Amino acid sequence: MNISMLEPMPLNILHRELDWPIVPDNICQEIIDSVLSGKLENIREIDSPTTNAPFVMYPITDSFIEWAKVNLPFIPDDYKKRIQRIYCPLSPHIDHLRTCSYNFVLTTEGSTTNWHNNDLSILETFNYKPRTWYQHQSQIKHSVVGSSAIRIAICIFKFELQIRDWNKDFTGNVNDSEAVRNFMNEKKKGMG
Ligand SMILES: [Fe+2]
Repeated sequence: MNISMLEPMPLNILHRELDWPIVPDNICQEIIDSVLSGKLENIREIDSPTTNAPFVMYPITDSFIEWAKVNLPFIPDDYKKRIQRIYCPLSPHIDHLRTCSYNFVLTTEGSTTNWHNNDLSILETFNYKPRTWYQHQSQIKHSVVGSSAIRIAICIFKFELQIRDWNKDFTGNVNDSEAVRNFMNEKKKGMG
């Protein structure tokens, strides 16, 4: 078990496999079933809570929390544990709540992750293997593609607002992502 993988991810590494314990099948299946039930509430922190958004976050199950206490004891309590659901394609973006995440993909249906250069040309392509823990670089533009695939994953991350310039992305380019626009609108409302 490599605890050092909780350290920040260097920008020259896009993904790395972790030797963390594998989540048992019954806990995985419970998570998949709960997502497919359509009854979960989107709790994504900065986006508008539309159920059919390409990217949503749901609360993780109690059984995963209990399992993680025993099997992933090195994860600090202030790290968020979420279910992440993606409808492909998810367009290129950088994450504004975290620098990296620890992901355990449950269903892929052939989805592929790309990282992009500034001009959106593909820097690297990677297929996350299901039922394997990875650290995912989210400060470099990335997208998830796959013909109408739904991807469900367990996602653990430290909530860190990446406050540089909210109007610009990591590379200094003007950022027009929907998540950032929504966040800026909420911020303006709060100040008004
Ligand atoms: Fe992302």
